[in-house]
Amino acid sequence: MSDALNVVVLAAGKGTRMRSALPKPLHRLGGKPLLAHVLDGARRLKAGRVVVVCGHGAESLRAAFPDAGIEWVVQAEQLGSGHAVIQALPKVDPGSRVLVLYGDVPLVRHETLERLAAGRDGVMLLTAEVDDPSGYGRIVRQSDGSVAGIVEHADATPEQRRIREINVGPMAAPAKWLAGACRSLKPAGLKQEIYITHAVDIALAEGLPVGAVRARSAAEAMGVNSPSQLADAWRVLRRRRAEALMEQGVRIADPQRIEIRGEVSVDRDVSLDVGVVLEGQVRLGEGSSIGPYSVVSNSSLDAGARIEAHCVVDGADIGAGARVGPFARVRPRAQLGAESRVGNFVEVKNSELGGGAKASHLSYVGDSQVGRNVNIGAGVITCNYDGRAKHRTVIGDGAFVGSGVELVAPVEVGAGAVIGAGSTITRSAPADQLTVARSRQKTLPLKKR
Ligand code: UD1
Ligand code: CA
Repeated sequence: MSDALNVVVLAAGKGTRMRSALPKPLHRLGGKPLLAHVLDGARRLKAGRVVVVCGHGAESLRAAFPDAGIEWVVQAEQLGSGHAVIQALPKVDPGSRVLVLYGDVPLVRHETLERLAAGRDGVMLLTAEVDDPSGYGRIVRQSDGSVAGIVEHADATPEQRRIREINVGPMAAPAKWLAGACRSLKPAGLKQEIYITHAVDIALAEGLPVGAVRARSAAEAMGVNSPSQLADAWRVLRRRRAEALMEQGVRIADPQRIEIRGEVSVDRDVSLDVGVVLEGQVRLGEGSSIGPYSVVSNSSLDAGARIEAHCVVDGADIGAGARVGPFARVRPRAQLGAESRVGNFVEVKNSELGGGAKASHLSYVGDSQVGRNVNIGAGVITCNYDGRAKHRTVIGDGAFVGSGVELVAPVEVGAGAVIGAGSTITRSAPADQLTVARSRQKTLPLKKR
């Protein structure tokens, strides 16, 4: 939008009902703090200024959002949402229109906020029709349908409590008017707090128009005050993120049993089984798939790559047609070539596996360069650490490393070399020859007892 819009985010409340040492705005929803959702919303509106009112845990909040675009205001005593707005107003452009957002209302859609911020004059509220309005402020309307005020749940009469139209929280008003109205706010209600919602009463008394934008769905209105509400909000967000992927053709076994905590980009025909967790930046190439209960973070899968059940893949590039797992751990800076294979109980770290290379069972491959079509037998270990430093292992194309081999790095296995099972290799093994390094088998007669 423009400089004409300023956003004030209220995030100073204690969040008592979370029963947590962590300030409520830092509780994570879908992989990022609650407050990050609200700030992302503000950013997308391209507001001239974004002022965040903090109080409880102010220091940790600031540290979590080092973004230079945010102005912070401390509300030393939490005397209510209206009092919080008063703290922010000195930082707001007097000629702007102010959109007040709540740090604990994270699911309002961008289009809804745009509709709310679009108005020019008067006060605009955001309301929603919900099945269970308890805990929320109720929208009281006149017989002609116009807004008559907002009544907090605690202060509502039994009749008002039956109203299912609630105050979502976000509100827009001209900065100059808001400043004046806030000066007239008095502690009120059961809690004797200074409520921003009472600015509506002042507007109505002055004859300033009060309008209301209705959220498209009740889910947008969710406020997060307790662990249970946090889980409810996550359920909504999980569904939204799954929907967005399914719209791009991704097949998801069960949209309620997938966790998307980052940014996922996909090509055609991707499929995700139950319990898949995607974190950070994940790229899923055409026809790739992830099996049940695998966690994939900051990684990319090329076309046709397959991650089987129960794998942990972090910071890796998985080549086209490669297969990982079940039960594999692929760690940062692992690059698995096309059609390569990393099987059960295999750990790969900071290593490149050439196309067609295989490590199918029970191995550790670290700090290694593994050539094309290398076969790494069951139980092979690259001994990359001598207690002080990490060393590299290089295995040439087509080499065959027998089962149970220890490769003591730095060490090199030549192309086409064969390493006998059970060898401990401490010096380079030449190409195209068999190297065996183990004691010869002996059989001795047993003494008669
Ligand atoms: C508030 C609204 C209610 C609405 C509901 C939506 C008021 C008076 N009531 O109720 O109408 O239906 O949200 O979820 O606003 N805050 C401060 N400083 C304070 C007090 C609060 O910054 O002194 C912040 C909180 O951190 C929170 C927001 O303001 O982000 C709302 O406060 P909260 O105590 O959660 O109000 P609710 O009872 O949820
Ligand atoms: Ca709240």
